[in-house]
Amino acid sequence: MIHHYDVLIIGGGLTGLRAALRVSDAGLNGAVVSKVHPLRSHSVAAQGGMNASLGNVKGEDGTKDSWKNHAYDTVKGSDYLADQDAVERLCREAPTAVIELEHMGTVWSRLADGKIAQRPFGGAGFPRTCYAADRTGHNALHTLYEHVSGRQIPVYEEFFVTSLVTKDGRCIGCTALELMTGQVHGFLAKAVLMASGGFGRIFNKSTNALINTGDGPALALRAGALLKDMEFVQFHPTTLYGTNILITEGARGEGGILLNQNGERFMERYAPNSVDLAPRDVVARSIEQEIAEGRGYDGGYVHLDLRHLGAARITERLPGIRQIAIDFAGVDPIQDPVPVQPGQHYSMGGIDADINGATALPGLYAAGECACISVHGANRLGGNSLVETVVFGRLVAEKIIEDVEEMTLANDEPVKAAIKSTNDRIEGILRREGGELVFGIKDVMTNNMSNKFGIFREKQKMREGLDEIKKIQEQVGHVSLQNKERKLNQALIRFLELEGMLLLAEAVARGALAREESRGSHKRTDYPERDDLNFLKHTLVGLRDDTMHVSYKPVTLGVFEPRERVY
Ligand code: FUM
Repeated sequence: MIHHYDVLIIGGGLTGLRAALRVSDAGLNGAVVSKVHPLRSHSVAAQGGMNASLGNVKGEDGTKDSWKNHAYDTVKGSDYLADQDAVERLCREAPTAVIELEHMGTVWSRLADGKIAQRPFGGAGFPRTCYAADRTGHNALHTLYEHVSGRQIPVYEEFFVTSLVTKDGRCIGCTALELMTGQVHGFLAKAVLMASGGFGRIFNKSTNALINTGDGPALALRAGALLKDMEFVQFHPTTLYGTNILITEGARGEGGILLNQNGERFMERYAPNSVDLAPRDVVARSIEQEIAEGRGYDGGYVHLDLRHLGAARITERLPGIRQIAIDFAGVDPIQDPVPVQPGQHYSMGGIDADINGATALPGLYAAGECACISVHGANRLGGNSLVETVVFGRLVAEKIIEDVEEMTLANDEPVKAAIKSTNDRIEGILRREGGELVFGIKDVMTNNMSNKFGIFREKQKMREGLDEIKKIQEQVGHVSLQNKERKLNQALIRFLELEGMLLLAEAVARGALAREESRGSHKRTDYPERDDLNFLKHTLVGLRDDTMHVSYKPVTLGVFEPRERVY
């Protein structure tokens, strides 16, 4: 079966849904294809908030926030690797995006004067993070989904995209496996927007949903697009010890403090000015160091202490994380400190996309976490991801709307051929006997990534890590599945995900090995300093004849000149 659309959006999270609404506003025929029901997209798990310089809460010196302050903090937080034109766009548009959501129905937390509440977040000079208690993503995603449903925009949910279809060097659609029926569908479109989220699950300790397997970047890479800055992986400082569920930075924004085993507020030593609200790369490294030097608790964690905030504030502002701590760690933050450790949280890298979301593959656009428009550079500030989803979801859709005026739909033939080859591939996988099982191999890969490409990196370990990835890639060719059914075959989906995850793991590894400096989240013990002379540039990774190659391109600089970061 082949479906025809002006614009096909892959991904049903905040970026995808925001884009779908904009496409619908323009009267175009658009559809969303999503691996899960949109309300199960990982956006729903975003806790702490969305940055925008509304200026509803004044800074410590009594001044009001501005988009320029937001841009400065973002560029400094990025360790100067962010493209400053893209950052300017993000920060200028952020207040509009928050107000738009408000008008659509998002229930923001409020200040006493009725204005949208804003809390301090890491690396930010002003209380800039708008929030809905600690369920901001949940609120925003439900808002957008209601509008998408209300307008009856088609959503193909539980469809796993198996390939991007190209013709004459242009992306013209995709194939997707319908989980319920096992049938492969074809989608033909004038333009395709990839908005499929991040790839955090290539690591073993992650705040990410299990669905965050980076299917979009892997599909794009195979189809001819490039990946950018894949080595920059964010480790969130406070994930719940044991499960690595996110414990929002908003908890420190509300006044929570980190304590080591000796009861010391150790961040005072690492970031004397910002203390617990230094950017994530700084705080995550500090916690790791405390643990490595024996000042953490056995098993590898420190404490996040919220008790002094009091029961009323915790239940009003942080109800979700209180419940998570009770349910998953057996501690009530009102009475007990919460055991936390750093865990993978966000992918700064992704599909190389320009300020309009255009990729190296004409017809394919990308936005949100799967993309690297490069507003986060080497380290993202908390609260900048949610705002990126809605700002660039809308802006990239606007560019697509402009571009599709000139475009016509290709004919069905390439999509028909892609459906056939996808069916042949699936049948080949299902027929295989013997070999390893998917789940064991996946664990080897995720452990390898966490052990060899974690918070502190070094050449020898990374070389071993890359060798291991190559070995697993070989093994995957022999994996067999016990479930041979086409319908509802979760093992098949896990296998298809794993193939893509291994490509992304290799891209992270190659980018990290080649970047012989420390910048943002990429901390090399063998190259401990930032090296602007040689590495103030974006890493690009592409596939040529199935071989991965690394190249570079310049960073778009602007008014903020690279300086030493002091927090
Ligand atoms: O800590 C948090 O609530 C996460 C926010 C973010 O990643 O932006």
